[in-house]
Amino acid sequence: MSEPVIPIVRSVADLRAQMATLCAAQETTALVPTMGALHEGHLDLIRQAKEVADRCVVSIFVNPTQFGENEDFGQYPRNEARDIAAASLAGADLIYAPDATEMYPPGHVTRITVPGLADVLEGEHRPDFFTGVATVVSKLLLQVLPHVAIFGEKDFQQLQVIRRMVADLNIPVAIHGAPTVREADGLALSSRNSYLTPEQRVIAPILFRALIEASQAFEQGLSAANLAGKVSDALGAAGFEKPDYVAFCHAETLSMVETFAELSGQPGRVVAAVRLGRTRLIDNVAVGSVT
Ligand code: PAJ
Repeated sequence: MSEPVIPIVRSVADLRAQMATLCAAQETTALVPTMGALHEGHLDLIRQAKEVADRCVVSIFVNPTQFGENEDFGQYPRNEARDIAAASLAGADLIYAPDATEMYPPGHVTRITVPGLADVLEGEHRPDFFTGVATVVSKLLLQVLPHVAIFGEKDFQQLQVIRRMVADLNIPVAIHGAPTVREADGLALSSRNSYLTPEQRVIAPILFRALIEASQAFEQGLSAANLAGKVSDALGAAGFEKPDYVAFCHAETLSMVETFAELSGQPGRVVAAVRLGRTRLIDNVAVGSVT
């Protein structure tokens, strides 16, 4: 079967030229920003993009500014040809794959920070991560100028940071959050799952199961501190390291809550980050009936 051929652009100038040709005046555009190594989670975002907009642009850019010095920027999986074929089959109309110099030309200095939301949870363990994410996402939004941009709830804090940034900077785009796509055994799809050994792959879904149980027990009245300890013990017994965090928070503000009652009927989340060998897994589950 021959794959549909879609245009690939690598510069802002070519992107704008292609967009002008591709999109008729009344057509709407959705952007799905990615770092490549596309899996079903990414492809689901592309399909949703085509439900809400006429055209879908997928960006593929492994963003150096969101990786810490000792993180996996060098090893991050890259397979552009496969990604382009998969994105195209899922319905993408254009691939934007700039190189690092196009995104960050010599002399670039401007950074976007989102204090508060970006300082907790992931921010405590990956200090420059959200500045890198907010900076590149604001640039992608201003380069592509889509009507809608779609992000996964898999990276729940990232989604909230981006919503805040877009509101604060009046960037004219609607941000859509999409539910996490999981393997049959519950493991959230992630490009980094490829780092797991076969033995670790069997253990990995225990994180999701532990979060589901913790969410239910929280709703039934157990405290956050009690449940964080229980989740940490269960993960430790299964072969995980000590979690970076297991926390219950308000879904929008990410402020920590100790009891379900503190949410006063508003949506909450239980969020966690934990290492399994050299792979750092993050996941989250809704608290309350909201997904
Ligand atoms: P990346 O990890 O490639 O993820 C791209 C998008 O796919 C993000 O919105 C992420 O939340 C979503 N995603 C990942 N796994 C998913 C899953 N299992 N189900 C549903 N959606 C999933 O997140 C990034 O890249 C970068 O930080 C980026 C936003 C592109 C900025 O560089």
